[in-house]
Amino acid sequence: MTLARLHSGLALLAQFTGEHNSLHPAGPQASGIEWLYWVVFWITFAAFVLVVAGFTRAAVRNRSSTSEMLPLVRDLEGDRRASWAVGTAVFITVLTLFAVLFMSIITGKKVEGLTSKNPVTIQITGHQWWWEAVYPNTQADQTITTANEIHVPVGKPVVILTNSADVIHSFWAPSVHGKRDLLPGYSSAFWIQIDKPGTYAGRCAEFCGLQHAHMGFSIVAEDQDTFQRWEAQQLKPAVEPNSSETVRGRQVFLTHACVMCHTIRGTDAGSRMGPDLTHVGSRRMIAAETLPNTPGALAAWIIDPQRSKPGNKMAPNLLNPGDLGALVTYLGTLQ
Ligand code: CUA
Repeated sequence: MTLARLHSGLALLAQFTGEHNSLHPAGPQASGIEWLYWVVFWITFAAFVLVVAGFTRAAVRNRSSTSEMLPLVRDLEGDRRASWAVGTAVFITVLTLFAVLFMSIITGKKVEGLTSKNPVTIQITGHQWWWEAVYPNTQADQTITTANEIHVPVGKPVVILTNSADVIHSFWAPSVHGKRDLLPGYSSAFWIQIDKPGTYAGRCAEFCGLQHAHMGFSIVAEDQDTFQRWEAQQLKPAVEPNSSETVRGRQVFLTHACVMCHTIRGTDAGSRMGPDLTHVGSRRMIAAETLPNTPGALAAWIIDPQRSKPGNKMAPNLLNPGDLGALVTYLGTLQ
Protein backbone atom coordinates (compact mmCIF):
# COMPACT_ATOMS: atom_id res chain seq x y z
CA MET A 1 0.00 0.00 0.00
CA THR A 2 2.71 2.47 1.04
CA LEU A 3 4.92 1.26 -1.80
CA ALA A 4 2.09 1.70 -4.29
CA ARG A 5 1.59 5.22 -2.98
CA LEU A 6 5.30 6.00 -3.27
CA HIS A 7 5.28 4.61 -6.80
CA SER A 8 2.37 6.77 -7.94
CA GLY A 9 3.96 9.77 -6.17
CA LEU A 10 7.18 9.27 -8.12
CA ALA A 11 5.26 8.86 -11.37
CA LEU A 12 3.41 12.10 -10.56
CA LEU A 13 6.72 13.86 -9.89
CA ALA A 14 7.90 12.71 -13.30
CA GLN A 15 5.02 14.65 -14.88
CA PHE A 16 6.72 17.88 -13.92
CA THR A 17 9.73 17.05 -16.05
CA GLY A 18 7.81 18.21 -19.13
CA GLU A 19 6.50 16.71 -22.32
CA HIS A 20 9.75 14.86 -23.00
CA ASN A 21 9.18 11.91 -20.74
CA SER A 22 9.86 8.19 -21.04
CA LEU A 23 7.62 7.58 -18.00
CA HIS A 24 4.58 8.56 -20.09
CA PRO A 25 4.58 5.71 -22.58
CA ALA A 26 2.23 6.06 -25.53
CA GLY A 27 2.81 2.69 -27.14
CA PRO A 28 4.00 -0.87 -26.56
CA GLN A 29 7.73 -0.15 -27.03
CA ALA A 30 7.83 2.75 -24.59
CA SER A 31 5.67 0.73 -22.14
CA GLY A 32 8.22 -2.09 -22.19
CA ILE A 33 11.03 0.38 -21.55
CA GLU A 34 9.06 2.04 -18.73
CA TRP A 35 8.35 -1.35 -17.12
CA LEU A 36 12.08 -2.22 -17.13
CA TYR A 37 12.89 1.23 -15.73
CA TRP A 38 10.62 0.71 -12.72
CA VAL A 39 11.90 -2.84 -12.09
CA VAL A 40 15.51 -1.60 -12.00
CA PHE A 41 14.47 1.45 -9.95
CA TRP A 42 12.81 -0.64 -7.22
CA ILE A 43 15.66 -3.18 -7.10
CA THR A 44 18.25 -0.41 -6.66
CA PHE A 45 15.96 1.36 -4.19
CA ALA A 46 15.69 -1.81 -2.08
CA ALA A 47 19.48 -2.28 -2.22
CA PHE A 48 19.97 1.33 -1.12
CA VAL A 49 17.59 0.95 1.83
CA LEU A 50 19.25 -2.33 2.91
CA VAL A 51 22.76 -0.85 2.75
CA VAL A 52 21.75 2.27 4.72
CA ALA A 53 19.93 0.10 7.29
CA GLY A 54 22.97 -2.19 7.64
CA PHE A 55 25.33 0.74 8.19
CA THR A 56 22.98 2.34 10.70
CA ARG A 57 22.63 -0.91 12.65
CA ALA A 58 26.39 -1.42 12.75
CA ALA A 59 26.97 2.18 13.82
CA VAL A 60 24.41 2.00 16.64
CA ARG A 61 25.49 -1.41 17.94
CA ASN A 62 29.24 -0.90 18.09
CA ARG A 63 29.31 2.52 19.65
CA SER A 64 32.45 2.95 21.73
CA SER A 65 34.65 5.83 22.64
CA THR A 66 37.73 6.24 20.42
CA SER A 67 39.96 6.88 23.45
CA GLU A 68 39.32 3.46 24.91
CA MET A 69 41.57 0.74 23.44
CA LEU A 70 39.80 -2.51 22.71
CA PRO A 71 41.71 -5.70 23.39
CA LEU A 72 42.27 -7.87 20.28
CA VAL A 73 40.25 -11.03 20.59
CA ARG A 74 39.90 -13.76 18.05
CA ASP A 75 36.19 -14.41 17.54
CA LEU A 76 35.96 -17.57 15.43
CA GLU A 77 32.19 -17.73 15.58
CA GLY A 78 31.95 -14.06 14.54
CA ASP A 79 34.36 -14.60 11.60
CA ARG A 80 32.34 -17.57 10.39
CA ARG A 81 29.09 -15.58 10.52
CA ALA A 82 30.71 -12.64 8.68
CA SER A 83 31.96 -14.96 5.89
CA TRP A 84 28.47 -16.41 5.57
CA ALA A 85 26.88 -12.94 5.41
CA VAL A 86 29.34 -11.69 2.75
CA GLY A 87 28.99 -14.90 0.73
CA THR A 88 25.18 -14.72 0.80
CA ALA A 89 25.19 -11.03 -0.14
CA VAL A 90 27.50 -11.70 -3.13
CA PHE A 91 25.29 -14.60 -4.22
CA ILE A 92 22.10 -12.49 -4.03
CA THR A 93 23.80 -9.61 -5.88
CA VAL A 94 24.98 -11.87 -8.72
CA LEU A 95 21.54 -13.51 -8.91
CA THR A 96 19.82 -10.10 -9.06
CA LEU A 97 22.19 -8.86 -11.79
CA PHE A 98 21.46 -11.95 -13.86
CA ALA A 99 17.71 -11.45 -13.30
CA VAL A 100 18.03 -7.82 -14.53
CA LEU A 101 20.09 -8.98 -17.53
CA PHE A 102 17.41 -11.56 -18.36
CA MET A 103 14.60 -8.98 -18.06
CA SER A 104 16.57 -6.52 -20.26
CA ILE A 105 16.91 -9.17 -22.96
CA ILE A 106 13.19 -10.05 -22.74
CA THR A 107 12.23 -6.34 -22.93
CA GLY A 108 14.63 -5.81 -25.84
CA LYS A 109 13.01 -8.69 -27.74
CA LYS A 110 9.53 -7.35 -26.96
CA VAL A 111 10.47 -3.82 -28.10
CA GLU A 112 11.86 -5.19 -31.38
CA GLY A 113 9.06 -7.67 -31.84
CA LEU A 114 6.51 -5.55 -33.70
CA THR A 115 5.61 -6.60 -37.20
CA SER A 116 2.96 -5.95 -39.83
CA LYS A 117 2.39 -6.90 -43.46
CA ASN A 118 1.42 -3.47 -44.69
CA PRO A 119 2.81 -0.83 -42.35
CA VAL A 120 3.14 2.91 -42.83
CA THR A 121 6.78 3.50 -43.78
CA ILE A 122 8.62 6.72 -43.03
CA GLN A 123 12.16 7.49 -44.11
CA ILE A 124 13.76 9.83 -41.58
CA THR A 125 16.95 11.60 -42.60
CA GLY A 126 18.89 13.64 -40.06
CA HIS A 127 20.34 16.94 -41.25
CA GLN A 128 22.25 19.62 -39.33
CA TRP A 129 19.84 20.61 -37.72
CA TRP A 130 16.45 19.36 -38.84
CA TRP A 131 14.65 16.14 -39.72
CA GLU A 132 13.48 15.22 -43.18
CA ALA A 133 10.51 12.86 -43.24
CA VAL A 134 9.61 11.08 -46.47
CA TYR A 135 6.68 8.68 -46.82
CA PRO A 136 7.99 6.68 -49.77
CA ASN A 137 5.77 5.26 -52.47
CA THR A 138 6.63 3.41 -55.65
CA GLN A 139 4.80 6.18 -57.50
CA ALA A 140 6.82 9.39 -57.19
CA ASP A 141 3.71 11.58 -57.12
CA GLN A 142 2.36 9.59 -54.16
CA THR A 143 5.44 10.27 -52.04
CA ILE A 144 5.06 12.73 -49.18
CA THR A 145 8.01 14.88 -48.13
CA THR A 146 7.85 16.99 -45.00
CA ALA A 147 10.05 18.12 -42.13
CA ASN A 148 10.17 17.86 -38.34
CA GLU A 149 6.45 17.11 -37.89
CA ILE A 150 5.84 13.40 -38.38
CA HIS A 151 2.25 12.17 -38.64
CA VAL A 152 1.34 8.56 -37.89
CA PRO A 153 -1.95 6.68 -37.53
CA VAL A 154 -2.86 5.62 -33.99
CA GLY A 155 -2.67 1.93 -33.07
CA LYS A 156 -0.85 0.90 -36.26
CA PRO A 157 2.73 -0.38 -36.54
CA VAL A 158 4.94 2.11 -38.36
CA VAL A 159 8.38 1.39 -39.83
CA ILE A 160 10.95 4.12 -39.43
CA LEU A 161 13.87 3.88 -41.86
CA THR A 162 16.84 5.95 -40.77
CA ASN A 163 19.70 7.70 -42.47
CA SER A 164 21.77 10.81 -42.06
CA ALA A 165 22.87 13.40 -44.61
CA ASP A 166 25.90 14.59 -42.68
CA VAL A 167 26.95 13.51 -39.17
CA ILE A 168 25.58 11.07 -36.58
CA HIS A 169 22.22 12.11 -35.11
CA SER A 170 19.95 10.20 -32.76
CA PHE A 171 16.18 10.02 -33.10
CA TRP A 172 14.53 10.01 -29.70
CA ALA A 173 10.88 10.46 -28.77
CA PRO A 174 10.90 9.13 -25.17
CA SER A 175 7.14 8.47 -25.00
CA VAL A 176 7.38 6.33 -28.12
CA HIS A 177 10.65 4.40 -28.24
CA GLY A 178 14.27 4.37 -27.11
CA LYS A 179 17.03 6.25 -28.92
CA ARG A 180 18.01 5.29 -32.45
CA ASP A 181 21.24 6.54 -34.00
CA LEU A 182 21.10 7.90 -37.55
CA LEU A 183 24.39 7.13 -39.26
CA PRO A 184 25.54 8.74 -42.50
CA GLY A 185 25.63 6.23 -45.34
CA TYR A 186 24.02 3.49 -43.28
CA SER A 187 20.33 2.74 -43.42
CA SER A 188 18.57 0.91 -40.61
CA ALA A 189 14.96 0.33 -39.62
CA PHE A 190 12.88 0.08 -36.48
CA TRP A 191 9.22 -0.12 -35.58
CA ILE A 192 7.08 2.19 -33.53
CA GLN A 193 3.46 2.11 -32.52
CA ILE A 194 1.49 4.79 -30.72
CA ASP A 195 -1.78 3.80 -29.06
CA LYS A 196 -2.83 7.15 -27.57
CA PRO A 197 -3.64 10.04 -29.92
CA GLY A 198 -1.55 13.12 -29.24
CA THR A 199 1.58 15.04 -30.11
CA TYR A 200 4.82 13.58 -28.80
CA ALA A 201 8.01 15.60 -28.54
CA GLY A 202 11.30 14.25 -29.83
CA ARG A 203 14.89 15.46 -29.78
CA CYS A 204 18.21 14.67 -31.31
CA ALA A 205 20.08 12.68 -28.66
CA GLU A 206 23.56 12.58 -30.18
CA PHE A 207 25.76 15.67 -30.15
CA CYS A 208 25.87 16.78 -33.78
CA GLY A 209 27.24 20.29 -33.75
CA LEU A 210 26.42 23.80 -32.64
CA GLN A 211 22.62 23.57 -32.84
CA HIS A 212 22.25 20.01 -31.56
CA ALA A 213 20.03 21.35 -28.77
CA HIS A 214 17.70 22.92 -31.35
CA MET A 215 17.08 19.79 -33.37
CA GLY A 216 13.60 18.89 -32.28
CA PHE A 217 10.73 17.07 -33.94
CA SER A 218 7.25 15.98 -33.01
CA ILE A 219 5.22 12.90 -33.76
CA VAL A 220 1.53 13.54 -34.24
CA ALA A 221 -0.51 10.39 -33.68
CA GLU A 222 -4.05 10.68 -35.01
CA ASP A 223 -6.95 8.41 -35.87
CA GLN A 224 -6.97 6.72 -39.27
CA ASP A 225 -9.40 9.21 -40.88
CA THR A 226 -7.49 12.28 -39.74
CA PHE A 227 -4.22 10.66 -40.82
CA GLN A 228 -5.60 9.87 -44.27
CA ARG A 229 -6.89 13.44 -44.63
CA TRP A 230 -3.42 14.69 -43.68
CA GLU A 231 -1.84 12.35 -46.26
CA ALA A 232 -4.23 13.49 -48.99
CA GLN A 233 -3.52 17.13 -48.17
CA GLN A 234 0.27 16.62 -48.15
CA LEU A 235 0.12 14.90 -51.56
CA LYS A 236 -1.38 17.98 -53.19
CA PRO A 237 0.90 20.49 -54.87
CA ALA A 238 1.14 23.90 -53.25
CA VAL A 239 -2.00 26.06 -53.33
CA GLU A 240 -2.05 28.69 -56.05
CA PRO A 241 -1.82 32.28 -54.84
CA ASN A 242 -5.26 33.90 -54.88
CA SER A 243 -4.47 37.53 -54.09
CA SER A 244 -2.01 40.18 -55.28
CA GLU A 245 -0.20 39.86 -51.93
CA THR A 246 0.34 36.09 -52.24
CA VAL A 247 1.26 36.38 -55.94
CA ARG A 248 3.92 38.87 -54.87
CA GLY A 249 4.98 36.51 -52.04
CA ARG A 250 5.52 33.63 -54.44
CA GLN A 251 7.42 35.94 -56.77
CA VAL A 252 9.69 36.98 -53.88
CA PHE A 253 10.28 33.32 -53.02
CA LEU A 254 11.19 32.39 -56.58
CA THR A 255 13.47 35.37 -57.22
CA HIS A 256 15.45 35.35 -53.97
CA ALA A 257 17.76 32.91 -52.19
CA CYS A 258 14.83 30.77 -50.89
CA VAL A 259 14.61 28.95 -54.20
CA MET A 260 18.26 27.83 -53.94
CA CYS A 261 17.54 25.48 -51.03
CA HIS A 262 13.81 24.73 -50.74
CA THR A 263 11.12 22.93 -52.66
CA ILE A 264 7.57 24.14 -53.16
CA ARG A 265 5.91 21.53 -55.35
CA GLY A 266 3.89 23.08 -58.15
CA THR A 267 6.42 25.93 -58.57
CA ASP A 268 9.94 26.12 -60.04
CA ALA A 269 11.47 25.74 -56.57
CA GLY A 270 12.87 22.20 -56.35
CA SER A 271 16.02 22.18 -54.25
CA ARG A 272 16.43 19.58 -51.50
CA MET A 273 19.04 21.40 -49.37
CA GLY A 274 16.52 22.60 -46.80
CA PRO A 275 13.06 21.45 -45.70
CA ASP A 276 10.29 21.00 -48.29
CA LEU A 277 7.97 23.98 -47.85
CA THR A 278 5.04 22.82 -50.02
CA HIS A 279 2.83 22.59 -46.91
CA VAL A 280 4.86 24.62 -44.44
CA GLY A 281 1.73 26.54 -43.37
CA SER A 282 0.25 23.33 -41.95
CA ARG A 283 3.12 22.81 -39.52
CA ARG A 284 2.88 23.86 -35.88
CA MET A 285 6.52 24.90 -35.51
CA ILE A 286 9.41 26.04 -37.70
CA ALA A 287 13.20 25.69 -37.49
CA ALA A 288 13.01 22.13 -36.09
CA GLU A 289 10.62 22.96 -33.24
CA THR A 290 12.63 26.04 -32.26
CA LEU A 291 10.05 28.73 -33.15
CA PRO A 292 6.26 28.72 -33.35
CA ASN A 293 4.88 28.93 -36.87
CA THR A 294 3.50 32.45 -36.53
CA PRO A 295 3.90 35.31 -39.06
CA GLY A 296 6.15 37.23 -36.64
CA ALA A 297 8.47 34.31 -35.88
CA LEU A 298 8.58 33.31 -39.54
CA ALA A 299 9.50 36.87 -40.60
CA ALA A 300 12.23 37.04 -37.94
CA TRP A 301 13.55 33.64 -39.04
CA ILE A 302 13.68 34.65 -42.74
CA ILE A 303 15.43 37.98 -42.04
CA ASP A 304 18.01 36.58 -39.62
CA PRO A 305 17.98 32.79 -39.13
CA GLN A 306 21.40 33.00 -37.48
CA ARG A 307 19.92 34.87 -34.57
CA SER A 308 17.85 32.00 -33.16
CA LYS A 309 20.03 29.14 -34.50
CA PRO A 310 23.61 30.39 -34.96
CA GLY A 311 25.59 28.23 -37.36
CA ASN A 312 22.62 26.82 -39.27
CA LYS A 313 22.87 26.59 -43.06
CA MET A 314 20.25 29.25 -43.85
CA ALA A 315 21.65 32.64 -44.90
CA PRO A 316 20.10 35.98 -43.82
CA ASN A 317 17.61 37.48 -46.29
CA LEU A 318 17.54 41.27 -46.18
CA LEU A 319 14.16 41.76 -47.80
CA ASN A 320 12.30 45.08 -47.75
CA PRO A 321 9.27 45.09 -45.42
CA GLY A 322 6.77 44.85 -48.30
CA ASP A 323 8.45 41.82 -49.84
CA LEU A 324 8.92 40.16 -46.45
CA GLY A 325 5.26 40.67 -45.52
CA ALA A 326 4.11 39.25 -48.86
CA LEU A 327 6.45 36.24 -48.54
CA VAL A 328 5.26 35.45 -45.00
CA THR A 329 1.62 35.74 -46.08
CA TYR A 330 2.27 33.43 -49.04
CA LEU A 331 4.05 30.81 -46.91
CA GLY A 332 1.18 30.94 -44.42
CA THR A 333 -1.28 29.98 -47.16
CA LEU A 334 0.69 26.79 -47.96
CA GLN A 335 -1.55 24.55 -45.86
CU1 CUA B 1 21.36 16.02 -34.51
CU2 CUA B 1 22.23 16.22 -32.31
